[in-house]
Amino acid sequence: MQIGRGDEGILSEEMAQKRDEIIGLLKQAYFAELETVINYVTNSTNPDGVRAQEIKEALEEDIQEELMHAQQFASRIKELYGVVPSSTDFKAEQTFLQPPEHQTDVVHVIRGVIDAETKAIELYTRIVQATEETDPVTQDMVIDILRDEQGHRRLFEGFLREYEAEGLA
Ligand SMILES: [Fe+2]
Ligand SMILES: [Fe+2]
Repeated sequence: MQIGRGDEGILSEEMAQKRDEIIGLLKQAYFAELETVINYVTNSTNPDGVRAQEIKEALEEDIQEELMHAQQFASRIKELYGVVPSSTDFKAEQTFLQPPEHQTDVVHVIRGVIDAETKAIELYTRIVQATEETDPVTQDMVIDILRDEQGHRRLFEGFLREYEAEGLA
């Protein structure tokens, strides 16, 4: 019998290519989480006004959760024998979370958050599909994270609904 990782599913030699594909997606997810941390710190600080308070507090709570997601993605990259990238490989993508012209423009922030969460949901759904039957451990982890993002988006959709109902969005 060959000594190696032949019967270990995603960790086996034959699965090297699939593993690379999954690691690539996990690196994207890792950076997406860290970019979200940056922008949620920004947007939990900048907004002015009574109406902004709730939004700022919700974002502040999410920061810790998104940071934990980044750490989970990093651990999983390592467990799959990948190398966690550094900031020199980072490319910013969350254009919708740029600060608005007026710091009382809370609707701009809400829409930006919904956009960021939607992109995370799309990417993590892709990872769930890519790991189907090949890497149940990664899949299980990403399903939990996906649920968090769905919850985040739902909360901000509720905020947006309130502004729409009042004719402010
Ligand atoms: Fe996240
Ligand atoms: Fe999120």
